[in-house]
Amino acid sequence: MMGRDLDPGTAGKLLNAVLDAGINFIDTSPDYGASEESIGQHLSGRRREFFLASKCGCPVGDAGEGARREHIFTRQNVRAGVEQSLRRMKTDHLDIVQFHASPPRSVLEENEAVEELKDLRREGKIRFLGMSGTLPNLTDHIAMGVFDAFQIPYSALEREHDGAISEAAAAGAGTIIRGGVARGTPDAPEERLSRLPEPFRQMYQQRRNRWEEAKLDDLLDGASRTEFMLRFTITHPGMHTTIVGSANPAHLADNVAAAAKGPLPHDVYEEAKTRLT
Ligand SMILES: NC(=O)c1ccc[n+]([C@@H]2O[C@H](COP(=O)([O-])OP(=O)(O)OC[C@H]3O[C@@H](n4cnc5c(N)ncnc54)[C@H](OP(=O)(O)O)[C@@H]3O)[C@@H](O)[C@H]2O)c1
Repeated sequence: MMGRDLDPGTAGKLLNAVLDAGINFIDTSPDYGASEESIGQHLSGRRREFFLASKCGCPVGDAGEGARREHIFTRQNVRAGVEQSLRRMKTDHLDIVQFHASPPRSVLEENEAVEELKDLRREGKIRFLGMSGTLPNLTDHIAMGVFDAFQIPYSALEREHDGAISEAAAAGAGTIIRGGVARGTPDAPEERLSRLPEPFRQMYQQRRNRWEEAKLDDLLDGASRTEFMLRFTITHPGMHTTIVGSANPAHLADNVAAAAKGPLPHDVYEEAKTRLT
């Protein structure tokens, strides 16, 4: 759940709709604006209904207007962040805490950051150790053998981490796939793309081109592009769960319906991968 400016009423309705729809895994971060406070405000009474994942190493306290602050993986900042998340979300434990921003193994080791998470686990404040990891550091993270779960970016249109997902799963860790609908790019109206700032517009355009070049519309069989994307993501054999961001209740309902259809048929999945390679 990324930080977006939703009024409290809208955020409350959306968060409750997520649980009502049967979703039982919520991912957040101290970096996502008012997200943690919203979860505390609207879902603390339903805490037993979902697994709660947040991040650590993030700046602690108020970021201030437009601030972009550095991630710090000292024992002190890791602990302060987790304790802040517990307070904000009005809970006594987090199910997974993930190091944010894929720090190098050397930074984690110099700071004894993993040891701090283990201390927090011994104290019952967290249950599982996680990493929000990307290549190249992700290879080291998997080799460290200490992480219970990895959050990894992946979609049909961004398959750079395809092999890393399989490696993490083969190592016995849980995998949490993010970005699995490529931010809705294939279905986004041209007019919305044209309003994006230049670096984003280019990135979205590249994804869109990849979709067109692979002629994936031929494989839709009546599905929307986003439905196809989501089902492609959950078909990855190393995927254990996926987190889709949305501030739109209609999209939430569509995504739940798409996920309920399950993985893509084998021949469609193989054909899509061939076309995307
Ligand atoms: N480094 C990290 O750890 C990190 C980084 C990025 C994200 N994350 C986590 O991963 C989650 C998802 O990532 P993400 O938001 O970047 O990627 P995403 O889930 O691929 O994309 C979310 C975007 O897709 C749109 N969307 C969702 N369902 C749609 C549908 N059915 N039709 C059309 N558009 C649809 C949403 O717009 P609407 O609001 O209009 O539905 C939103 O703009 C985040 O909420 C966060 O928890 C973690």
